[in-house]
Amino acid sequence: MKHLNWLFLLLCMPLFAAPDGKALYEEKCSACHHFRGQGGIGLPLSPEILAQVSDDYIAKTIRHGRPGRIMPSFQKLSAAQVSAIVRYVRSWTGKPGPVFEAARIQGDAGKGNVLYQKHCVRCHGKDGSGEGAGTGVTLSRERSFMVMPAALNNSGFQKSASDAMIRDIILSGRKTSNMPAFRDKLSDQEVAHVIAYLRTLQPPAPRKGLEEWVGKPAYVMESPYDLETTVENVKQALAGANFRIFPQRYLEQGLTDEFSMNTRQVSIRFCNFKELYHLLNIDPRLGTVLPCRINVLEQDGKVLVISANVAQLATLFNNQELSEVGVLMEEIILTVMEEATL
Ligand code: HEC
Ligand code: HEC
Repeated sequence: MKHLNWLFLLLCMPLFAAPDGKALYEEKCSACHHFRGQGGIGLPLSPEILAQVSDDYIAKTIRHGRPGRIMPSFQKLSAAQVSAIVRYVRSWTGKPGPVFEAARIQGDAGKGNVLYQKHCVRCHGKDGSGEGAGTGVTLSRERSFMVMPAALNNSGFQKSASDAMIRDIILSGRKTSNMPAFRDKLSDQEVAHVIAYLRTLQPPAPRKGLEEWVGKPAYVMESPYDLETTVENVKQALAGANFRIFPQRYLEQGLTDEFSMNTRQVSIRFCNFKELYHLLNIDPRLGTVLPCRINVLEQDGKVLVISANVAQLATLFNNQELSEVGVLMEEIILTVMEEATL
């Protein structure tokens, strides 16, 4: 009996141990925010930024995510896991985070609108969508890789940030990016008006015509030809659609050694430079995610042609213009795939 009790205790131990914040961060966050918050697709979580945001804000941001702005919402993490991640992120600075009052700040949204158009719109976009010219810089790369400011109209941001925290950011600015300090430019009353205006912002409604593209992560078509012929067909169809094709790679190239590489999986990478520059102009983060590639692989005696759903990927950026280009690209890619398997 005694032994059984011990066994029971041993089995339960991992459940009682505190979650490992570092491991959780590396698993859930580092792909976008880099190993120590240098930033990448996700905004930097640098000491300067961490000094301006509360633990409550980070925890809520993890929970709510930023719908339509790539950052997922982590609904399934327990409260203890979220706290462990926050503690780990906070440990990089060695200082406790600021605490802000939850109370609403009263202001006049109409007056705030006027001030916003004057002082903020050029960087944060006309509806707070972050589509203006202002850019932060991720610190993860040597070259300055530009990122957009966070979308202030995003429901995830709105639910996570308290008025007092937003006020502090407006007054102090962000030393590590182009966000200016408004301490000497706006009075307390004016800052309150701007905040009241920010609270009225909402993300644009999803664009009509996109519905049919949503929900499918990838398109798969079966080819009646063998692998080599199918690859040739895809290339021809791409050339016909004015794409430039990069040197061909095997899907596993770079991931595994040459001898165990599966040569029955080919990745055809292509691009249309005009379109690519257009896309990068809309959102520079795109270069890191949009895969201009069609994969051809042999599986169980079948030859499959596969492409990611570019239209759906594009919607993650919550940007109308980009979504339109995404739909256009998707239509072209599907035509190419159809042509190659006809
Ligand atoms: C010159 C461009 C520029 C101007 C002008 C500007 N901002 Fe910013 N703002 C930024 C950038 C870039 C960031 C992102 C900073 C970062 O994360 O490093 C930012 C961040 C913010 C944030 C924090 C968002 C977050 O997710 O942490 C708030 C709030 C904000 N700005 C509000 C304003 C308001 C209100 C105004 C006008 C009074 C304004 N900004 C004017 C560029 C600008
Ligand atoms: C798939 C990419 C991705 C993942 C995974 C991700 N994030 Fe983010 N995160 C982003 C992006 C993109 C933004 C900026 C949103 C915007 O542009 O509006 C962001 C914003 C944030 C912000 C707000 C920063 C600021 O300046 O206000 C915090 C805090 C944050 N993420 C923490 C985390 C944590 C912690 C995790 C892991 C639990 C995580 N993120 C996972 C992409 C990601």
